[in-house]
Amino acid sequence: MKKTIRDIDWAGKTAVMRCDFNVPLDGDRITDETRIQAALPSINYLIENGAAIVLMSHLGRPKGQAKPEFSLLPVAKRLSECLGKEVRFVASDVVVDDDVRAAAKELGAGDVMLIENVRYRAEEEKNDPEFAKDLASLGDIFVQEAFGTSHRAHASTTGIADYIPAVSGFLIEKELKFLGEAVNNPQRPFAAIMGGAKVKDKIPVITNLLDKVDILIIGGGMSYTFFKAQGHSIGTSLLDEEGLELAADILKKAEEKGVKFLLPVDVVAADEFANDSPHDTYPVDAIPDNRMGLDIGAETIKLFTETLKTAKTVVWNGPMGVFEMENFAVGTKAIAECLAEIDATTVIGGGDSAAAVTQFGLADKMTHISTGGGASLEFLEGRELPGIAVIDDK
Ligand code: 3PG
Repeated sequence: MKKTIRDIDWAGKTAVMRCDFNVPLDGDRITDETRIQAALPSINYLIENGAAIVLMSHLGRPKGQAKPEFSLLPVAKRLSECLGKEVRFVASDVVVDDDVRAAAKELGAGDVMLIENVRYRAEEEKNDPEFAKDLASLGDIFVQEAFGTSHRAHASTTGIADYIPAVSGFLIEKELKFLGEAVNNPQRPFAAIMGGAKVKDKIPVITNLLDKVDILIIGGGMSYTFFKAQGHSIGTSLLDEEGLELAADILKKAEEKGVKFLLPVDVVAADEFANDSPHDTYPVDAIPDNRMGLDIGAETIKLFTETLKTAKTVVWNGPMGVFEMENFAVGTKAIAECLAEIDATTVIGGGDSAAAVTQFGLADKMTHISTGGGASLEFLEGRELPGIAVIDDK
């Protein structure tokens, strides 16, 4: 068992809390604040229990440079509104400097501040000990609450725990409970739905899921690599050249392991990557040379949803199509609606699938929506997440 914020007497102490405030932005407008909402219970608990709180996070991938479009200022503003109290944003291009250190020292019980995007410093992703020490110097206890970044061994997610005690927040606790039960003790049949465009990232995870699930459904961008591996021509659809051999391997393994392995049987393909682009539905062995698949077709929706109705545990990671475009959101929406209705434990991996479920207004119909995309996948793979491993044991 890992220590949590409940195990600390917070009076007179400062929490340095790593959140995953890597939220989607349109200019400085936050378009999905799920990750902010998810951190509020722990922040409120710390406030109520007299801690001073220094919040930190990354946002996007500024690659070690102080780029204003990656500033956490919009997050500080939204946090202030959500908490009903000022979250002081102490901006610094180097993340931690004398002003930041002084501001942290001045915090009283229940005061909250947010520092600038930790990835403004290249040392963050290098897990540089000096930078980790600098972050640790801002408080007394490290609170790990960034489930979405817990698969990264960075200065603010793991290195910092070398210098101060580390405990988890409520979000980490909740994520471990729901994802843990799905992997280690699922009610069967256990189905996983994998989709999305990050083919290379997900194929190794699928390999591991093959040992755990009864049903594996593949849709979205990565399915075209599988079609190609099966010898189909995929027009101008997304192809992961590097994943081709692995895809062929996975097809073989699924058969050996007796896993029910479903790929789309038809797709909606368009001339261009645009919502208003002319499009039609085609069987997967008849995708025209000049068109790209952007959604699953009606026959596939029927096949997938009928199969999912037989499952008792479902884990979903990755959309079935370009759900951000109305014309190609049909497949993803149909899967979300199916999961909302079935009598099963439904765990939604973070990132795009979480955004999709929220976009369709079905978030409260799911058992659990993870705030971690890559992190939830690695967890499902059975890997130890470095950001979780550093949390002190009870
Ligand atoms: C995510 O959105 O998956 C996390 O915030 C991690 O972001 P990263 O992939 O840039 O490390």
